[in-house]
Amino acid sequence: MNVDVVLGLQWGDEGKGKIVDYLAQQYPVIARFQGGPNAGHSLHFEDTSFVLHSVPSGIFRKDTVNIIGNGVVIDPIIFEEECRAIEALGVPVKDRLLISKRAHLILPTHRIIDAASEQAKGSSRIGSTLKGISPAYMDKTGRNGIRVGDILTADFVERFDALKSKHLVFLEQFDYTYDPDQDQDTWMQAVEYLKQFKLIDAEYYVNDCLQKDKPVLAEGAQGALLDIDFGSYPYVTSSSTTCAGACIGLGFPPSKVGRVYGIFKAYCTRVGSGPFPTELSDEHGERLREQGKEFGATTGRPRRTGWLDLVALKYAVILNGVTDLIMMKSDVLDGFDTIRMATAYKVNDIQTDRVPYNINTPIVPLYKEFRGWKKDLTLIRREEDLPEEFISYVRFIEKETGVPVKILSLGPDREQTIIRN
Ligand code: IMO
Ligand code: MG
Repeated sequence: MNVDVVLGLQWGDEGKGKIVDYLAQQYPVIARFQGGPNAGHSLHFEDTSFVLHSVPSGIFRKDTVNIIGNGVVIDPIIFEEECRAIEALGVPVKDRLLISKRAHLILPTHRIIDAASEQAKGSSRIGSTLKGISPAYMDKTGRNGIRVGDILTADFVERFDALKSKHLVFLEQFDYTYDPDQDQDTWMQAVEYLKQFKLIDAEYYVNDCLQKDKPVLAEGAQGALLDIDFGSYPYVTSSSTTCAGACIGLGFPPSKVGRVYGIFKAYCTRVGSGPFPTELSDEHGERLREQGKEFGATTGRPRRTGWLDLVALKYAVILNGVTDLIMMKSDVLDGFDTIRMATAYKVNDIQTDRVPYNINTPIVPLYKEFRGWKKDLTLIRREEDLPEEFISYVRFIEKETGVPVKILSLGPDREQTIIRN
């Protein structure tokens, strides 16, 4: 048995929550493998909606085991808030969630460092979610981090104090005012709450599942264009968001990767700084933001919007080995007379279909125009009822990427989803 992987192919916010929740029906085990509370995965069902940050999107399914893998960074305070809110809906979170002892913890001082270093960057700031993600991963790779399993050890508080002291010294370089004890008591209480969960050797658990023919679905956070290696560095997040990251963040071998579901929106958004070749700063961009409700699920920030970028999408397909494409928020394009898609870039007057290495390279996107369908897709439930103009938009993406678009999402609800044969 294999691990199938669901990944964002753009700059995050592709609609991973909805799709993982949808696919969860077929998988007894759902696992997050990277990122942390910078993620915001929105789920909509019946009359409610819920935004998940650290917890996998299978948590609302009765028979699904959810795992937070070693590649994830956990802020105990945000984790507790999130789990208590899920428990308040009557969901027995502690029975459905397993946490890797090897996952690293985000300390209150990681958050302070994130804010101080963003402020120091001034106009070249990353636009971080300020959740302490980058400082926590820095401590992980710098071999200073504290892991979930450490909370059960006798010298945990000493370790915490030692790392905190290092952080306070590090913070001296910044002209930044803060309270060194900020959130510390709440954090320690949240660690007690975390102790009530099943803390496991998740790499053994995942491999045992495969041995026992139980399929696992790995849920990515962020997207390929925010990947630490392949994104628009330094305007990226601090983890490996591509398919290979699933192996590292859960502890299963590359030979066990099965299907790779690549999720993209019918257009593009980005939140935070960095290059965005097809960005629209006109009324079309505003319309995408309004129609698509493009405001951050984690930070509430308005998202930058633009046309679909096929050059970037093809790059993401290659990096991940995508086997199935999933197109989200198709209905947001319903009202447009014409819709554009970037099929190539002009870089220094030379046409290319590759993403340039240097993020400061001025890129002029070259567009193909499509006739709008001007129909309400949200009401359509069968593939044969989809407008012809919409189908030709989808077919063009399939032809260019060489990958079939297997699922079309036509609205936020579970029902507004069409599976194609
Ligand atoms: P989901 O899983 C969209 C962006 C931030 C910033 C950059 C670095 O919901 O798709 P970080 O806090 O990670 O150091 O910020 O990455 N970013 C996201 N954008 N969706 C996300 O997650 C994101 N997680 C981080 O806006 O530009
Ligand atoms: Mg998000």
